[in-house]
Amino acid sequence: MRVLDLFSGIGGFSLGLERAGMKTVAFCEIEEFPRKVLRKHWPEVPIYEDVRELTAAGLAADGIGVDLICGGFPCQDISVAGKGTGIEGARSGLWRECARLIGEIRPQFVIVENVAALLGRGLSRILGDLAEIGYNAEWHCIPASHVGAPHRRDRVWIVADTNNQRLQGRVEAGLRECSRRIRQCRSAADTRNHRKGNHGGKFMNNLYRFTRQLNWNDPIEDWTPGHVGDRLVGWVCVVVALLLLTGVVV
Ligand SMILES: C[S@@+](CC[C@H](N)C(=O)[O-])C[C@H]1O[C@@H](n2cnc3c(N)ncnc32)[C@H](O)[C@@H]1O
Repeated sequence: MRVLDLFSGIGGFSLGLERAGMKTVAFCEIEEFPRKVLRKHWPEVPIYEDVRELTAAGLAADGIGVDLICGGFPCQDISVAGKGTGIEGARSGLWRECARLIGEIRPQFVIVENVAALLGRGLSRILGDLAEIGYNAEWHCIPASHVGAPHRRDRVWIVADTNNQRLQGRVEAGLRECSRRIRQCRSAADTRNHRKGNHGGKFMNNLYRFTRQLNWNDPIEDWTPGHVGDRLVGWVCVVVALLLLTGVVV
């Protein structure tokens, strides 16, 4: 499957998709530093600069065919850390270029990723735009902790397809399988590290156990935005109360 990686950054999407057997045929990234990283790891893959200037005709003229478009469009206007302008903002508004290219190229599949705040600040726009150009979509919010990272970092993933029958719950089934395999790998790695008396491994293991106590690895049905936030506030209160009780804080 030939991949067009939009808003490529340092190629995280391509790294994952190539591990799944796909092949990136073109990148599109505006900043020089990530372009350098991309050139280093994918020296033969062309890098287009500005998504606003990229067209299906231009790609076809360069002999590039595409089966899948992926992209994590800029999140600054969507993120809770920003001003919250939303998906119409100057930077996150680049979603419309992504939608234009999907409409022009009509790939078999589309994968879009963004921060969890997208659920309330633009998901409906994305689903509407995709539906208008004939794409069915499934989405899920996946915390990084569910795929091996020692922190939460919720991200929304949208997978869209032109064939309504093809998705039908497969995103969720795939996520469950992926999460099952990662847990297996992680517990195998933890056990190995323990046997070797590896402190890094021990630390990770403890961290892993701690995050499990906090239930950061909740099953998929419980991944609701705000969920961990509530729990974190609870934990912060417990820590503050303990510090006050023990006289660490006066
Ligand atoms: C959220 S990051 C994507 C990170 C990427 N998924 C990765 O694995 O590194 C968004 C990227 O879009 C790029 N970008 C912003 N405006 C762009 C434009 N007009 N054309 C192409 N890329 C752009 C930014 O430089 C940034 O690297």
